[in-house]
Amino acid sequence: MPDDGRGAGEVVLVALRGVVAMDGPSGTGKSTVSRRLAQSCGAAYLDTGAMYRAATLAVLRAELGEDTPPDRVVAVAIGRDLASGTDPACPTITLDGADVSAEIRGPEVTGLVSAVSALPEVRTELVARQHELIEKAVRDGSGIVVEGRDIGTVVVPDAPLKVYLTASPEVRAARRGRQDARAGREADLHVTLTDVERRDKLDSSRRISPLYAAADALVLDTDNLSADDVLARLRTLVAERGLEG
Ligand code: DC
Repeated sequence: MPDDGRGAGEVVLVALRGVVAMDGPSGTGKSTVSRRLAQSCGAAYLDTGAMYRAATLAVLRAELGEDTPPDRVVAVAIGRDLASGTDPACPTITLDGADVSAEIRGPEVTGLVSAVSALPEVRTELVARQHELIEKAVRDGSGIVVEGRDIGTVVVPDAPLKVYLTASPEVRAARRGRQDARAGREADLHVTLTDVERRDKLDSSRRISPLYAAADALVLDTDNLSADDVLARLRTLVAERGLEG
C-alpha cells in the first residue's frame, strides 16, 4: 500500500455521521487511509499517536535523568501546551505553540514513545483531550475519523464503525522505511524491522489500554491491499452502517 498521505484532489462524496475508530500497529497504512477517508467525507481527523509523540518530545526536551521519578516524567509529559489540529488536509500538532510535526517522527521520539504512552496518568490526560476534540467534531456535525491503538477499545468503545488494520512486520517495516526516506530520515530496513517488532511488543503488552482489536472491529489485513483498496472498503462500510450524513 502506498503510504504517502492523501490522494491528490480528494473529492468529497459523502458526509460522515459519528466516529470511525481506526486502530492497529505501526506501518499498517492507518494514517494514510484515515486521512483520506476523513477528507472524502468532509470529516475531521485525529491522529492520537501524534499526541503521544508530542508528549514524548516534551520529556526528551526536559533532559530528565534516568532516575527521575515517574510522577515528574508525567508532569513534564502533560504539563506543556499541546494542541492537535483536526483538518485532514493539514493535520497539525504543536507544543507550546510551535509546530513539531516533523520532529515527533524522528528516531529519538520513536524510541521512547512506547514507554511514555504506557504511563497511566499520561493516557488519562491525553484520552480526556481526545474526548474533547471528538465531542466537538460530533457536536459540529462533521463526524471524525480517529486513529490510534485503543480507539475502539477505550477511547470510543461505542463507535459505530471500528476497523483494525494489520500487516506483516516485514511489510510494515518496508512502509516505514519508505516514509523515512521520503522525509529525508536515514533508515536501515533491519533496524526499522527490529523497532517495529519492539514497539508491537511494548504496545500490546502494556498494562493499561494495550493494543488489540475490539471484539466488534472489522479486521483488515493490508499486506496485499493498496490504499485505494482499503479506502474503498472503508467507504462501503460507512455506507453499510448508515453513517453517511
Ligand atoms: O501511531 P504512531 O506510531 O505515531 O504512535 C506512536 C506511539 O504512540 C505508539 O507506539 C503507541 C502510542 N499510541 C498509544 O499508545 N495509543 C494511541 N491511541 C496511539 C498511539
